[in-house]
Amino acid sequence: MSKLIITNWKMQLSLKEAVSLAKKFKAQSKKFQAKMIVCPDFLSLQPVSKILGRSAIELGAQNCASQNRGALTGEVSLLDLRTLGVKYVIIGHSERREKLGETSELINQKIKTALNNKLIPILCVGEKLVEKKAGKTRVVLINQLRLALKNIKINSAADLVIAYEPLWSISPGRPITSAEAELASIFINKEAAKILKKSVRVIYGGSVDVKNASGFLKQKHVEGLLVGAASLKENFSQICY
Ligand code: PGA
Repeated sequence: MSKLIITNWKMQLSLKEAVSLAKKFKAQSKKFQAKMIVCPDFLSLQPVSKILGRSAIELGAQNCASQNRGALTGEVSLLDLRTLGVKYVIIGHSERREKLGETSELINQKIKTALNNKLIPILCVGEKLVEKKAGKTRVVLINQLRLALKNIKINSAADLVIAYEPLWSISPGRPITSAEAELASIFINKEAAKILKKSVRVIYGGSVDVKNASGFLKQKHVEGLLVGAASLKENFSQICY
């Protein structure tokens, strides 16, 4: 299976900038070895979807509502994301957990709703610096996985992706080493398999750039990357070749 390069544009681009970046990526995409997934903000999803058309680049959302329809002011339904051609959805990003108070219960519900709609959740897990310093990384990861994946059933390994993103490594933090990413991927894969009874893909995210990407991608158990800041740069697509 080719490695996944998931670009998280966060709230960094205007609509015009998102359209222009999508056009650039599409123009380069024929030569990509890796599978690129772009995750623009909600507003940009429709124009970006049109631009990407039938190219090899797939579309992801950065978040979703926990239910299909209802009185949920400001939320966006997975039913509508799906009609736009969205295939993946980032769930439980640390910025949503920490800055927007997203709970593990909500994350669990969003994963269930995404799977029911045949979208692939990209579940983000990772420890804070203080937890790392206290030697609690593994305990934190196990806890996050247990809560997020509670009562979740998947049919195949391709149904779900887990992104390991230590909070302290997200830019402007510092990346972990590729050896650390490999060990973390093995660990997360093993723990997730205990819950899901299936081995899913584990990717790494946090200050990945065009220089360090190949080191991570060479690791056997790091099945891809979740990239924020660097994915907005002109030369980013180099890492997909
Ligand atoms: P970064 O962000 O690549 O800018 O560190 C990654 C993320 O938050 O998903």
